[in-house]
Amino acid sequence: MDRHKSLLRALRGEAVWPPPIWLMRQAGRYLPEYRTVRAQAGDFIALCTTPTLAAEVTLQPVRRFGFDAAILFSDILMLPWALGYDVAYREGEGPVLPPLRDRAAVEALDSTRLLAAIEPILETVRRAGELLRAEQPDAALIGFAGAPFTVACYMVEGAGSKDFAATRMMAYRDPGLFTQLIDRLADATVLYLEAQIEAGAEAVMLFDTWAGLLSPLQFHLHVMRPTQEIVRRLKQRFSGVPVIGFPRLAGQLIADYASTGVDAVGMDTAMDPALVRTVMPPSTALQGNLDPMALVAGGPALAEETGCILHLMRGHPFVFNLGHGIVPQTPPEHVAELVRLVRAA
Ligand code: CP3
Repeated sequence: MDRHKSLLRALRGEAVWPPPIWLMRQAGRYLPEYRTVRAQAGDFIALCTTPTLAAEVTLQPVRRFGFDAAILFSDILMLPWALGYDVAYREGEGPVLPPLRDRAAVEALDSTRLLAAIEPILETVRRAGELLRAEQPDAALIGFAGAPFTVACYMVEGAGSKDFAATRMMAYRDPGLFTQLIDRLADATVLYLEAQIEAGAEAVMLFDTWAGLLSPLQFHLHVMRPTQEIVRRLKQRFSGVPVIGFPRLAGQLIADYASTGVDAVGMDTAMDPALVRTVMPPSTALQGNLDPMALVAGGPALAEETGCILHLMRGHPFVFNLGHGIVPQTPPEHVAELVRLVRAA
């Protein structure tokens, strides 16, 4: 039924060429049409929980650029929000949460309220699916969640950070508590992604933005172990739905990461696609990894960086993307130029 969708073919291991393309954070402030809807919604959580607006914003970049996928418009911190954890987004500051410090706070995470709380997000998935079928029938719909470690980073720290020191200290000093937090988040993530798939997500992605802050031992405990468990449980029920994992900054630990069972691995900007290819099983698709700043720069820099990635990935199951999210200062014309470059491959 979905065999014609190039994104799904690539994620299932086919070396589709030219490769499908979508961009992390493709819906966002660099688009004037996003800023209009964002202003209409008021705050960010209102936008994420108003299905008409969130579905509209999900479609915007696909309409404008003809991407091969739409990604649900939401945020990784909507999961703790749905578990009853206090999450706020402050203008210009990013997310703010109460720093999690004890067992009582972990035990207060309430998965019995999860399904009711995420209902507007599931309705966004259904509506975005309908809009895609009507307007962009070749584009696939991607659902997502933050991976447990990265979500735990924001909960323990209480905000963004460059090193998430409090989180990493908790993992060493109170491994029982930290593991309990990771396991609760992993359980909730399975329910959350299963519900997104039932609502129409055709592939799902786990964003582990801060995975690379961990030592190899901690990476196994708090990145590999929960990721493997989430993938195993999803595959039990939805064996045909591809899972993309993005262990950002993982360096050479990315070689192990394929053993979690993910179908595709997202490469961050610093990864050498040629080297990654040699350490990955040939059936594991790769995704990435243009420097978001090359997209801001445009011109010959954009053409050269893009050409290099395309050259190294030809013949391998591959999805063109950035190495991290698109930044607000990106000129939309450069995104249109990137899509032309990739489609001409
Ligand atoms: O990719 C998409 O277009 C789908 C939507 C999406 C958002 N966030 C929307 C968003 C996705 C997939 C995310 C993932 C996310 N959120 C991650 C993992 C990927 C990454 O970028 O590392 C992380 C770490 C977050 C947490 C988060 N949300 C931060 C740190 C911030 C503030 C930084 C910023 O850009 O403002 C957010 C807010 C956020 N999430 C915005 C958007 C469009 C900006 C909010 C606004 O419109 O004011």
